[in-house]
This record gives sequence, structure tokens and C-alpha cells, in this order.
Amino acid sequence: MCGIVGYVGEKSAAKILLNGLEKLEYRGYDSAGITVHNGKNLCICKKSGRLKNLEDALLETPLDGKTGIGHTRWATHGAPNAKNSHPHTSMNGKIAVVHNGIIENYDELRMDLIQKGYIFSSETDTEVIPHLINHHYRLNGGNFLCAVKATVTALVGSFALAIICEDHPETLIAVRKDSPLIIGLGCNENFVASDIPAILSETKEVLLLDDKEIAVITKTNVSISDFEGNPINRDVHHVTFTENAAQKDGYEHFMLKEIHEQPRAIAGTLRGRLNLCEPVKFDGLDGETLKNINKIQIIACGTAYHAGLVGKVAIERLAKIPVTIDLASEYRYNQPLTDNKTLVIAISQSGETADTLAGMRLARSLGAKTIAITNVVGSTVSREADGVFYTYAGPEISVASTKAYTTQLVALYLFALFMAETLGNTPQEELDIIKSELANAPEIFSRALVSEEKIEDLSKKICNERDMYYLGRGLDYAVAMEGSLKLKEISYIHSETYAGGELKHGPIALIEENTVVIAISCDDSLCGKMESNIKEVVTRGAFVVLLANDTTKLSHSSYNELISVPETLPLLTPLASIAALQLLSYYVAKNLGYDIDKPRNLAKSVTVE
Ligand code: G6P
Repeated sequence: MCGIVGYVGEKSAAKILLNGLEKLEYRGYDSAGITVHNGKNLCICKKSGRLKNLEDALLETPLDGKTGIGHTRWATHGAPNAKNSHPHTSMNGKIAVVHNGIIENYDELRMDLIQKGYIFSSETDTEVIPHLINHHYRLNGGNFLCAVKATVTALVGSFALAIICEDHPETLIAVRKDSPLIIGLGCNENFVASDIPAILSETKEVLLLDDKEIAVITKTNVSISDFEGNPINRDVHHVTFTENAAQKDGYEHFMLKEIHEQPRAIAGTLRGRLNLCEPVKFDGLDGETLKNINKIQIIACGTAYHAGLVGKVAIERLAKIPVTIDLASEYRYNQPLTDNKTLVIAISQSGETADTLAGMRLARSLGAKTIAITNVVGSTVSREADGVFYTYAGPEISVASTKAYTTQLVALYLFALFMAETLGNTPQEELDIIKSELANAPEIFSRALVSEEKIEDLSKKICNERDMYYLGRGLDYAVAMEGSLKLKEISYIHSETYAGGELKHGPIALIEENTVVIAISCDDSLCGKMESNIKEVVTRGAFVVLLANDTTKLSHSSYNELISVPETLPLLTPLASIAALQLLSYYVAKNLGYDIDKPRNLAKSVTVE
């Protein structure tokens, strides 16, 4: 999704903006631009395509100045070209704006501005903002802050904005509503960014803007107020992860680095929450709240939804309370049966996904208690939920999510254990066995990574396929869905997932000689059933890659390739089997030479509906 960087200080703004935008590349974008105040005027440079195009243009025609704003755009309104890219300026070139989000009433505002004589030069919703600020600037006798305030109160939708004005060479104004924005604090310099990694090389001290807040930023001062003008005091937040944590660390891609980081990330999620001999701790929830609820609803999108599928099984098995799981985009329009006896768990790595956020807001309006499982401290879901559980996976840069998924699984296992211990529905001895195995999860995951070389070899055999099918039962089916999504996202190979038992109800018609079928059979109790399903595809000539543990009871004739998965308790098998599927999609995409960390058409965080 789009990225914002802003700077006011004593150094070359262009250099800092480019550096920051580079760190935000992972969010996905199709054009980029910056505006710098050169002491007299606003100077602008915008290019479609990769940031490199903007860098080359700036080498040819450098922009000098110490205040500026920059943006990477992911098109929503208007084609991805230089004209539609940000910053957008007012007609007289006095005001420049970068924007993340969507202005829902832009059509109406645009018509009104056109009637007032404003001429638009792009197809974007954003362009109404600089024109409107300029309009109010004139009405308010050149008061920059008043003009911004009057403008933002007229906007409907979501927006994070960074704005500069020709008449105020050393001021940057930042606004946040429903789209994240932070302020970085430096010495004789300050920064604005949509995401912490953008400014991590410059500072670790940040102020997190809340919804409907405006900040006026100079190199020595930041003053925050709400849209009504009431001043706001905000504590400084110290970022604990290092810049290195947001870099590749010698791996060829962030995705591979993040796959290998999972043992550490899982340990981070468990830390302080799971101590054997003590009840499990689940931040943000107390036992009393749990006793008053009679059902749980999980809402999430994409990979987080797949984690939720595993969570449903874990919670129902251990806490013995009914759980439904919905895609957040469906939940919000399905007139859900949510009430004050419902606990809604919103899972979101970024904590900013528009549908998940809207689903959570709906749940709250229906009287439910809400809990957010998220990786991003200070994210919108974390601030709006009644309780928050951070996964502490560290920044996830690759668009294809890996460590966020496994840490969400761990969070859900902890929740299931916490609830089971609170309600006492499962014998403690049973829970203790699961607790002590969960404490070994980092080690189990490390053992799963041992198959990497074999998976790399296998990927060469199957990377030219047009379609692949994933099969599983029970939790293996949930994991298969995530494996299939990973493959689609980065290798662009069509893949589908079926529950083993569903095969003969249609999908088997698709199986031909050499069709690749990835079969997952890690749950011993379902092994026999899976064997029958695998035989059904083998008979029709499929090339079967089987994921199972070493003690698999499946006969050798049931598969062409075996990837061993470390043995663990049936409930925890997703933590053991997902590693192979993540690695398989990574190496397939690598063989095909694709841009693994920035797959086409995808964004890390989808903050629009
Ligand atoms: C986007 C990302 C996916 C992610 C989904 C939900 O589609 O590309 O990787 O799973 O959003 O994101 P969230 O931040 O809410 O977990």
C-alpha cells in the first residue's frame, strides 16, 4: 500500500525522503514522487514504476532544500502513472500533499471546486485536498494550520497526510484519520512516516498519531491537536527493534530471512506468557470476561484468516466453546449474530487492514468484547480493541506473510490454553502436555527447516507447472490453504486446496497425468483416510508430494516425493508442517525469477476496502 515520508531539518530533504521511501518499498507501489521546499518554491519530481526511476531523475535534476514530503503510490483512483502519483499540488503550486487512504466524497468536493474555478490535473481522489487547502488558505488569510483543519473536517474517508506550503518553508503538517502515521523525533530535525522502518535509520524516538489528530512539525518542535483544536500531549514511544531487523541480514530475500527467523519469532510470542507450572497469561483479557461469554467469533483476512482456521480448532478442542471464523470482508456485511456475550478476536499482522478494522468496529457496536492479535504496536486495531495481544514477531517486510502466520498460530494456541485453564473444561494434565510441547515450538520449527535443500531440489522439478492442488484433512487442510496461498502470491501458479474428503465431489475431474498434488498428512488419526484420497489421485497419474512425519504409515507407492515434517502433538502440527510449504513456494518463485518480496498486484497492508 502507499507509503509516506516527510522531513524538516537541516539536511538534504531529498536524500532522506528517498532513503525512507526505499524502506517502504515492501508495502507495494507503482509510482513515487517527492516535493522539496528550496527556500523559495516547492519543487516536485514524480515518476511511474520503481523508485530507481525517481532516483535517476533526481540525479539528473537534483532538488535542493531542507523540508520535503515523499510518497510511494499504489493506485486506487486513476492509472498508475506520473500524473496521478503524489505529491499533488494546488493550482498555484503553493500547497503540496501526500496521502494514504481514500477520500470517499471526492467526487462531490471535486465538482464544487471545479465550479469555483479550480482545474484538476489528475484522476485521483487526493487532488481535491491541495485545492481545498489552498481555498481555505486564502479564506483564512494565509493561516496554514486553519486551512488544513477546515479541509480535513470536510473530508470523508481515510487519510494520512503530510503537507507543505510555499509560504512556510520550515513547517510540515501531518494529519491522521483511519490510516497510520507516526512522527520521528530527531535533533534539529523531525520526520513523518506511515511506517516505522522508513525512519528507523534516523531515529528510534517516535510519537504515534491517533485518529483525527493534526501535528504541526518544525525542526525543533512538534505540536499535536485534535480536529477541534484541543492540544494533545503524547508520550514518546521508544522503538525497540533495530534497523538491522528491518534489513535482509545476508539473505537474498526478506521472505527467506523471515522464514528462518520463525524460531526466534515464535520464542518472542511465547516469552513471558507460557511458563510451565503456571497458568498461561494472555494479555488484554481477564478470566472474568471469559466467563461471561458464550461464543467466539474470529475475523481476519488473507494469511491471518488461515491462522484463524487453526485457532478455531484449538479453541473448540481445549476450551469447548463454539467458535466461528469469518473473512472480515464477509463478516461485516453478513448481519452477524454478535452480542454482548460474544468475544470477537480480530487477527491482523499490520493492525491496519480496512475490513478487519471495520469488522471489529461493527462487533463493538453490537456489544461484543473485542481482542486484537496483531504484530504492530500502536496499530489501529490495537488501539480500538478492548484488549490487545502482540505477537512480537518483529517487522515483517516481505509481502508474503510467514512469521506473522506462525506467531499468530502461537497466539491462538496460548489463547485456547488460557481459556481452557480459566473455564476448566479440559483436564489440566492434558493441557500440561500441550503446554510443554508448545514451549518446544521454536525447536520444532527449526527441525522443519532442515528439509530446505531437498525442497529446493524438488522446486526445480515442479516450478513450470501451470496448476497445483493441495490436499489435507482437519488441521492439515487449514495449513494446506495457507501453503496454496503462498504459492499463488509469489509464483503466480494457479493452485487450489481441497479437503481430502471433498476430492471425489468434483475436483478429482481436474487430475491428469503428472498433475502436481501436494498432500499433507501429519495427523496420525487421519492418516488412513488421507491415504485413500492420495491413492485416488495417484491412480489418475498425479505427481504426489507428501508432507508427513518420518513415521508415516503411508506406503511408498502413495507418493513420488516425501518431505519429512518433525513429529509433534496432533494439535500443534501446523507449526511443524507450514515451514516446508513456505520454503516450497519461495524456491518455486525463485526458480521462476520473480520479484519475491514485492509480488505483482499485492500490497503488504490493505488499508482500503
Ligand atoms: C494483505 C497481505 C497478506 C495479509 C492480508 C491481511 O493481503 O498481502 O499477506 O495476510 O493483507 O493482512 P493483516 O495485516 O490484516 O494480517
